Amino acid sequence: MSELSVNHLLGIKQITKEDIQLIFDTTDHFKDVINRPIKKVPSLRDITIANLFFENSTRTRISFELAEKRLSADTINFSASSSSVKKGETLIDTVNNILSMKVDMIVMRHPEPGAAIFLAKHVNSRIINAGDGTHEHPTQALLDSYSIREKLGSIKGKKVLIVGDIIHSRVALSNIYALNMQGAEVCVCGPPTLIPKYIKELGVRVEYDLKKGLAWCDVAMMLRIQLERQNEKLFPSLREYAMLYGLNKNLLDSLKKEIIVMHPGPINRGVEITSDVADSKHAIILDQVENGVAIRMAILYLLASKIERA
Ligand code: CP
Repeated sequence: MSELSVNHLLGIKQITKEDIQLIFDTTDHFKDVINRPIKKVPSLRDITIANLFFENSTRTRISFELAEKRLSADTINFSASSSSVKKGETLIDTVNNILSMKVDMIVMRHPEPGAAIFLAKHVNSRIINAGDGTHEHPTQALLDSYSIREKLGSIKGKKVLIVGDIIHSRVALSNIYALNMQGAEVCVCGPPTLIPKYIKELGVRVEYDLKKGLAWCDVAMMLRIQLERQNEKLFPSLREYAMLYGLNKNLLDSLKKEIIVMHPGPINRGVEITSDVADSKHAIILDQVENGVAIRMAILYLLASKIERA
């Protein structure tokens, strides 16, 4: 297969196992490129990409921007806080105005679940979802799977424990879809109030005891508690959460086996993960970030290749 089955990357739910394989094969190539002294290729030099961030971001925003620059695309960066969105302009009007300036592709982070799907239906451009509320974060899940594969050789048959604020996490949902599709076993772990009732319908196990979950897994993916998305108090205190669901060195050492520890960032040190674990040899957190650039280069390249050029 040499092209993606989709014209946009809206979520992992919309793509196939073959798409993931193609993205990973292309990522292998771009990972070589970004480790060369000259890290740039001319692949997208006739393409203009707008990065629309309606919500805060460090990793995803910088990673997309670097990926675009490494591919020689022209880029523009849009931040909602300093735009005419503040004056009441709709999302569709804003994007159509940007597109009329001959922009070819849109990368968008938005706080509303489904915003990227909505946009793809109403504007004429390639759309990449850089995280839409509590819905999906497809590029994060792809870089996570790629990083597991790089570290453990394959995804199939691996046991992945996703720990923490599952109910508010777009990273958890995209990873569940991606890991299931590639044959991993997935278990979610956290306080009952942070695990949605429907989760078993997605083909995952549920474990409320972190120690048991860690004894089962090959990979522990720790998630941030998203206090900004919690309208009500779902657990007594961060201190209690850290005691029951935080990953610390003693817990890791007690396992008597090697697991890899992941985190999508941003990290709350001392809450979901202690510093001695985050900075240990078990953690591949910065490898995830490094792989994110090559994964995003691959996605931009593959989607741009589907643009009909005059
Ligand atoms: N992992 C992630 O999406 O991080 P940012 O919010 O910093 O982009």
